[in-house]
Amino acid sequence: MGDNIDKLVRKEIKEIAPYVPGKPIDDVKRLYNLKRIIKLASNENPLGYSQKVKEALRENLDNINRYPDGSGYYLKKELSNFLNIPEDEIILGSGSSEVISLAIETFVNPGEEVIYPFPSFIIYRILVLKVGGVPVEVPLEENFSYNLNKFFERITSKTKVIILCNPNNPTGTIVYKEQLEKFLSKIPDNIIIISDEAYFEYVENKNFGTCFPYYKDKNIVLTRSFSKIYGLASLRIGYGIGKSEILNYMERIRPPFNTTGLAQIAAITALNDQDFVKKSINVNKEGKRFLYGSFEKLGIEYIPTEANFILCKFKQDATDIVKELEKRGIIIRGMKSFNLSNQYVRITIGTEEENKLLIKELSEIIKYQK
Ligand SMILES: Cc1ncc(COP(=O)(O)O)c(C=O)c1O
Repeated sequence: MGDNIDKLVRKEIKEIAPYVPGKPIDDVKRLYNLKRIIKLASNENPLGYSQKVKEALRENLDNINRYPDGSGYYLKKELSNFLNIPEDEIILGSGSSEVISLAIETFVNPGEEVIYPFPSFIIYRILVLKVGGVPVEVPLEENFSYNLNKFFERITSKTKVIILCNPNNPTGTIVYKEQLEKFLSKIPDNIIIISDEAYFEYVENKNFGTCFPYYKDKNIVLTRSFSKIYGLASLRIGYGIGKSEILNYMERIRPPFNTTGLAQIAAITALNDQDFVKKSINVNKEGKRFLYGSFEKLGIEYIPTEANFILCKFKQDATDIVKELEKRGIIIRGMKSFNLSNQYVRITIGTEEENKLLIKELSEIIKYQK
């Protein structure tokens, strides 16, 4: 029976390794019989989400028997006001990852190449393989910074898309404005740039190079998310920005009801609660400083981050440390699934209390290991 399915399935799909998400809280609770879990594994907002969103969701529970407005008319209008751009330069997705997927499906023919960084967000490889494209992974520099010249050098006659993950997951490093401008000025019109900016709200560096100022002049699909700073990961909502000529084609293959009514309402309300966003940014900033200091005291190397997570490098294999933390109710992410060595872990910045507990447990584990 299994043999038969093997013969039926497309060969491109066979090459795809399944996506490994951060461990769900309930799994760890069950496994170790724990009451409280601190999840610092999926770059979620530790503050939860805006109370105003909670109220708006409660008020709109009655309509879930109806299909949503597939076009997301009101959310697009809200985003259009918020970003000061026309509505037809916005596309909605079931998370920003769906927008990335739609862009790749719209533009990449079998055999065409897609350039993106290594290490980076795992789904790029999956999405490229899915359409029969060829992944071209460009290693970041030794300190995980971007060198866009290296991306440019990898362009061939088969290159169709270049993905910039900015800030990059799992390194937290960014593309700088000057770098980006130089790079974009050299990119020919037959290449689409996808700029994945799921974490851009967290960036502190003034020289950050968002693609936003350039999308009207270049072939750019810029993606942003409500899953991170807005804390709506479970509702699956994100958006893309691009010229209408580009988005109109992506709209043709967008599933008709890809964003739910509740998600649209939540996103509209969340956009109107920028106080929650500011608070989230501040908690992240403070957590970042605390964790930097603590890692230094513990002799743990880290990559300075512009996002809500920190890539750390332990002196030895960190697999046991990740496991021991899990037993103590703290989930972080080993980086084997990102094809990095097992010395690396990625830790999402939590609340002050969560960060302190993490450091307390981590100190004990490291002391015990020495
Ligand atoms: C770089 C990056 N882009 C996109 C996403 C997906 O976000 P969404 O929930 O909007 O699909 C993630 C989620 O972890 C991410 O790390």
